[in-house]
Amino acid sequence: MPPADLSPDALSPLEAAAEIARLSDEIREHDRRYYRDDAPTVSDAEYDRLRRRLLALEARFPDLRRPDSPSQKVGAGPSEKFDKVTHRVPMLSLDNAFSDADVTDFVGRVHRFLATHGEAVAFTAEPKIDGLSLSLRYEAGRLVSAATRGDGAEGENVTANVRTVADVPTVLADGAPEVLEVRGEVYMGHTDFAALNARQEVAGEKTFANPRNAAAGSLRQLDPRITASRPLRFFAYAWGEVSEDWSPTTQWDRVQAFRALGFPVNDLMVRCADAEELLAHYRRIEAMRASLGYDIDGVVYKVDRLDLQQRLGFVSRSPRWAIAHKFPAERATTILDGIDIQVGRTGAHTPVARLVPVTVGGVVVSNATLHNADEIARLDARIGDTVVVQRAGDVIPQIVEVVKDAAHETREPFAFPHICRCDLATPLVREETATGEEGRIRRCTGEFACPYQRQEHLRHFVSRRAFDIEGLGEKQIEFFFTDQDFPVREPADIFTLATRNAASRLKKLENKEGFGATSVAKLFAAVDERRTIGLERFLFALGIRNVGETTARQLARAYGSWSAFHDGAMRVVDGDAAAREEMDAIDQIGETVIDSVAAYFREPHNRAVVDRLIEHVTPLDAEKPKTDTRVAGRTVVFTGSLEKMTRDEAKAMAERLGAKVAGSVSAKTHIVVAGPGAGSKLAKARELGVEIISEEEWLKRIDG
Ligand code: IVH
Repeated sequence: MPPADLSPDALSPLEAAAEIARLSDEIREHDRRYYRDDAPTVSDAEYDRLRRRLLALEARFPDLRRPDSPSQKVGAGPSEKFDKVTHRVPMLSLDNAFSDADVTDFVGRVHRFLATHGEAVAFTAEPKIDGLSLSLRYEAGRLVSAATRGDGAEGENVTANVRTVADVPTVLADGAPEVLEVRGEVYMGHTDFAALNARQEVAGEKTFANPRNAAAGSLRQLDPRITASRPLRFFAYAWGEVSEDWSPTTQWDRVQAFRALGFPVNDLMVRCADAEELLAHYRRIEAMRASLGYDIDGVVYKVDRLDLQQRLGFVSRSPRWAIAHKFPAERATTILDGIDIQVGRTGAHTPVARLVPVTVGGVVVSNATLHNADEIARLDARIGDTVVVQRAGDVIPQIVEVVKDAAHETREPFAFPHICRCDLATPLVREETATGEEGRIRRCTGEFACPYQRQEHLRHFVSRRAFDIEGLGEKQIEFFFTDQDFPVREPADIFTLATRNAASRLKKLENKEGFGATSVAKLFAAVDERRTIGLERFLFALGIRNVGETTARQLARAYGSWSAFHDGAMRVVDGDAAAREEMDAIDQIGETVIDSVAAYFREPHNRAVVDRLIEHVTPLDAEKPKTDTRVAGRTVVFTGSLEKMTRDEAKAMAERLGAKVAGSVSAKTHIVVAGPGAGSKLAKARELGVEIISEEEWLKRIDG
């Protein structure tokens, strides 16, 4: 692969095609993380740069632009990402009450603060809707903007999407104040939610875990047409900035005014005189909860008179004049019918409780998570036991308690399996990773040989940062994995495809759906290209637990060659203390990695898979890091946006020149390369007196 920092003009069409494919995959992956998972892993600036590079390449090689290129997707770019909106009046949260006593305390506090001396204070009580809050700004009776809550100070501009929500009026009825910010909850009803999920399922799209997520996901769509197709609802219950002359002077009257202006308001809002009445209404709502048709998670009480609200004011981020009385997590008692062990794609064995079906909070529950073997032991859950099941909001039902009656004592404690269900009957290991949670998971070490893990391993093997075989993506792996004529069940099979195809007289790959003579020839050429591969990619591709890209690179550089690494690993398996020490001495490598490497090569099936692969593939010796450059041995941190190259490129180049690239600034940092928008890392560097240079200075320094 050519270095990605070359100008598009310097690339051959073939090189450009490869880079376009790689960039497209990467951008798509970032899009998914950002838009679908709401969990981006790169900065906006970094993402921008990837897109710019793709656009430049496609501009230079228009023929290579695929119709499905992420550059062609309207609304996928960061420019179309939601703008930020600063809330003129912050969107605050509510303090919580969990018991009757908490509510009495709240009412008592209000009276004391206002020094009412027994004079009545009226409250409103209304359901707490489980959706996401939204602020709608109207000027002269017209909707001008809509924003999510965000961090309370700044939200996302979702105006175009909100305009498609039928419940939200775009023009208000007469009598609206000049400026009116209406706040409320966007939510999705149960029936609509179920229908949406069914549609998504049929379309092969992501389904949502609960109505709240569905509402949030639907509102935060880039394409308002998608939002329009989602059954979003809205209840108005609060306000932000409002022209001073707006007359209603109580919570109640303002919400009634919302109704008159055209907003849906919740019918279960009432006015109460004291704590007793609030609690009575709470119980009424609690009893109706399952039949409301939408999710609520409590009841909100607010002081009715606005002048009193004003006097009460706020404590930190919540009003002193309101409180959310939350429903307790719902529980029910049932019988533990069995414990199934599910084997995941990473070989993790997760126990699932099979229950005699029971209704918890209006939902029939027949499975519950048991997390891991430790949890079963902690609960001492035995099959046949009476158990207490809890369903808290949307989370998967859990067993919170086992009834330790006389019958419990007569039952056998549950024995967690020690070997995998896979046909190898491989022993399960308890992973000792840095993160405690994973440490409790039991995994099969069969890796490529374990039928539960094979496909996942193959997917990893061909992924972009591993073997990166063009034309052999997830879809193709899925095809080959199940194909009867040209099965690919382990990496070596990829490299025998061409010979198998040539040898087969009746069945030809080029005759299969989705393939043709050209694509098959291209695929085989791409496979051939990878018959030699850098050692670090090779090691990464093996899918050894805890050996990610960086670790693979460290190992490759330290051992230099496949034979040296393999020899070292096998000696560690054999318990050779010197070999272990040797591995331990490598920068950034510790017990976790060593144990994972040893577990991998201890497993005969894995060794066989690797041996078969090595018959077809030659890992190239790793480049030893340079020692004769100006940055060799220096620790560098990149921060802010880079203009000339992507973060990955900068990192790769620095490492090629013998520098070490770190993610955060510490006393060990030698150089910080700061671009526009650099923040806390830059500040830290200043504080520690670390040398700070610009991207340009950095390029000068590494030049030649
Ligand atoms: S009043 C200053 N009323 O609960 C307080 N909030 O925990 C303004 N919520 O962010 C909020 N139903 O998203 C209020 N009837 C209701 C509500 C409600 C749901 C949400 C809202 C808020 C969160 C606070």
